[in-house]
Amino acid sequence: MAENATKNEIRWESHRRAFEKYLEGLRFTEEPELETLEEAMRYSMLAGGKRVRPTLCMETAWVLGAEPEKVLPSAAAIELIHTYSLIHDDLPAMDDDDFRRGRPTAHKKFGEAMAILAGDAFFGEALTLITIHQKGNDSQILGVVQELASSTGVNGMVGGQVMDIGHTGVGGDADPRTLSMIHKYKTGALIKSSARIGAILAGADDESKNAVSEYAAELGLCFQIVDDLLNATATTEELGKSAGSDAELGKATFVGVYGLEGARREADESVERALSALAKVDGDTSGLRDLALFVRHRGS
Ligand code: IPE
Ligand code: IPE
Ligand code: MG
Ligand code: MG
Repeated sequence: MAENATKNEIRWESHRRAFEKYLEGLRFTEEPELETLEEAMRYSMLAGGKRVRPTLCMETAWVLGAEPEKVLPSAAAIELIHTYSLIHDDLPAMDDDDFRRGRPTAHKKFGEAMAILAGDAFFGEALTLITIHQKGNDSQILGVVQELASSTGVNGMVGGQVMDIGHTGVGGDADPRTLSMIHKYKTGALIKSSARIGAILAGADDESKNAVSEYAAELGLCFQIVDDLLNATATTEELGKSAGSDAELGKATFVGVYGLEGARREADESVERALSALAKVDGDTSGLRDLALFVRHRGS
């Protein structure tokens, strides 16, 4: 780590290190018959990844007064669900991608059936992490489960994926309202929940939870706008996943609808709204501010 790293950088690094160690330590079965399933799950979950959602969860907990390591089981549950969404997103029936996190996609390596099932298994394992391993009172644990259920269900990630698929091939025609809705559902909802789960486990009051939600909802939108921008401007090598695929498939993206400059402007406005929401959070939010700037200006 650079000698002049700021306090925030040191804390983020410590979140990331604790998180990777926790994830690396997860085992799902001792049954030899299920070795390949576990191998497929670990292949995808330990392939790197920016870990934005779990570290957002940990940092939010820290801002609101909890030990970041306290929320590790829930942070891991969030990342498992995110990993499941990526495995399924890459399937031939969806985006049909061969490359993810710098490696062949799960279905390329293990076959489609195993990829589908590894994704499904992540959901169950996520619930096990929360209900068995997460420390907190009953209402906090229930709150975490409710957050994940709603942000990944019909009015969350899966609904967003359905809208995304529905507009594939005719994406340029999506109106701005529909486009924002797709992005908020497919990507924004889980990012918003990641922060809310940190707040719930820190025992935050409703006012703090609402302020954090406002910030993270914008962060989630900005995250997907930047994903659209990178798909159009970065290389496959830089991204560790296929570049240029959105235009090829005719996806509904901010670049398709607003053009490159327009999409950059939308991302800037979104991140500004995220930063303004932080003013309402009672605590040291400088790390969350850094995260928002990272999300806007990241290169992968
Ligand atoms: C990619 O998510 C898919 C979207 C929801 C935009 P990330 O960009 O967080 O992917 P990883 O976890 O770093 O691989
Ligand atoms: C992925 O969206 C959203 C989810 C996995 C829920 P994209 O299809 O736009 O993301 P990438 O570019 O494949 O990572
Ligand atoms: Mg997709
Ligand atoms: Mg995709």
